[in-house]
Amino acid sequence: MNEKEFPRRRKRLMDMMGDESIAIIPTASVHIRNRDVEFPFRPDSDFYYLTGYQEPTAVAVLIPGRISGEFVLFCREKDAKMETWHGRRTGLEGACDLYGADDAFPIDDLDDILPGLLEGRERIFYTMGNDQAYDQRVVGWVKQVRDMSRSGVHAPDEFISLTHILHEMRLYKSRQEITAIRQAVWISGLGHQRAMEVCRPGMTEYQIEAELLHEFMRHGARSPAYPPIVGSGANSCILHYTENRDELRAGDILLIDAGAEYDFYASDITRSFPVSGEFSREQELIYELVLSAQLAAIEQVKPGNHWNDPHDTAIEVLTDGLLELGILRGTRKKLISDQAYSRYYMHRTGHWLGMDVHDVGDYKLDGEWRMLDVGMILTVEPGLYFPPGRGLAKKWWNIGIRIEDDVLVTPTGHDVLSKHIPKGVAEIERLMS
Ligand code: GLY
Ligand code: MN
Ligand code: MN
Repeated sequence: MNEKEFPRRRKRLMDMMGDESIAIIPTASVHIRNRDVEFPFRPDSDFYYLTGYQEPTAVAVLIPGRISGEFVLFCREKDAKMETWHGRRTGLEGACDLYGADDAFPIDDLDDILPGLLEGRERIFYTMGNDQAYDQRVVGWVKQVRDMSRSGVHAPDEFISLTHILHEMRLYKSRQEITAIRQAVWISGLGHQRAMEVCRPGMTEYQIEAELLHEFMRHGARSPAYPPIVGSGANSCILHYTENRDELRAGDILLIDAGAEYDFYASDITRSFPVSGEFSREQELIYELVLSAQLAAIEQVKPGNHWNDPHDTAIEVLTDGLLELGILRGTRKKLISDQAYSRYYMHRTGHWLGMDVHDVGDYKLDGEWRMLDVGMILTVEPGLYFPPGRGLAKKWWNIGIRIEDDVLVTPTGHDVLSKHIPKGVAEIERLMS
């Protein structure tokens, strides 16, 4: 991300907050994996979006109109010994020079300094509920200022969640954000293609996962955006299967839902294909049905259409197909109103995509599905899942198909960012042969 992007975002947010307000945005906490070992740290998306700062234990404070500086960063100080053990630190000077903070203070001084910054402000923008310890500290700081009211100090008395205005900003992607997501999608495509190329019966699901991660990391995506789902046979029918430990068997479908994260931006891609490289008749019928639902849903992605239009369209196509295959019986209208498809299609057709894989942004405004607009990015990911039983003929068992692409809303309609990743039956069979 170009370093100009962050001050631009802070300015926009502060313009919307208005003077007399203050925003407090802590980064994510560090989590212990086992004893002295931590999970890899990833900054909180809201915090990173506004600061570009990647080190743990930091709090950003935005104070529009403050004469002595509007952006204050509390962060770790430089410390030669700690840096020898645990890695480099930007330090306070670096926070100002590299990240554009007007003031930087040691994170250990937060409780001493923050109450003073609240004085005279009317409104606090802060997102409650992410971290109880911080929630309590914020309340404590306000109380501290309020206790001084007899000496004429004014304490803020309005709490506003940051999510509304900030997440509305994050929903509309800038050119640079679109570039980052394109890159994440591109890298994911290399992984999916490699998985199709190397897949053969007798391998394990985790070996396929290793091929994906290899491709992600060697192209600069240091982490997947979420734990990869690599499910074969019956596992393809478990929506969030992540054990990835079974052997791949000829005749089974392999469903891979895996996306790289690049520069803190996610991709989210699913492809489903036969372990042996050739679809059986039943697998192909279901695959073509999901694909036609997906293509029809993607056609609904355009400015002015509602968020739910792709989902409604996918449901219609899937219901028609299930009727034709004899898997559902009844009248189309009633099957749709009864949600009969939900036995085999139990999730929605997509979600926003951005820094978070299930990204922020409201899906409804004033109780109505919101309209799609230029710069939004969403996934389109219908599927059908047939675990054994459910009154189904045995020939359909253990077929789980999902096809997921990442789609940008453009002025003329949409751009499927993942269009280069093979998804036609013939194309997949050719690649695997
Ligand atoms: N990878 C989770 C999802 O597709 O939403
Ligand atoms: Mn996915
Ligand atoms: Mn998804």
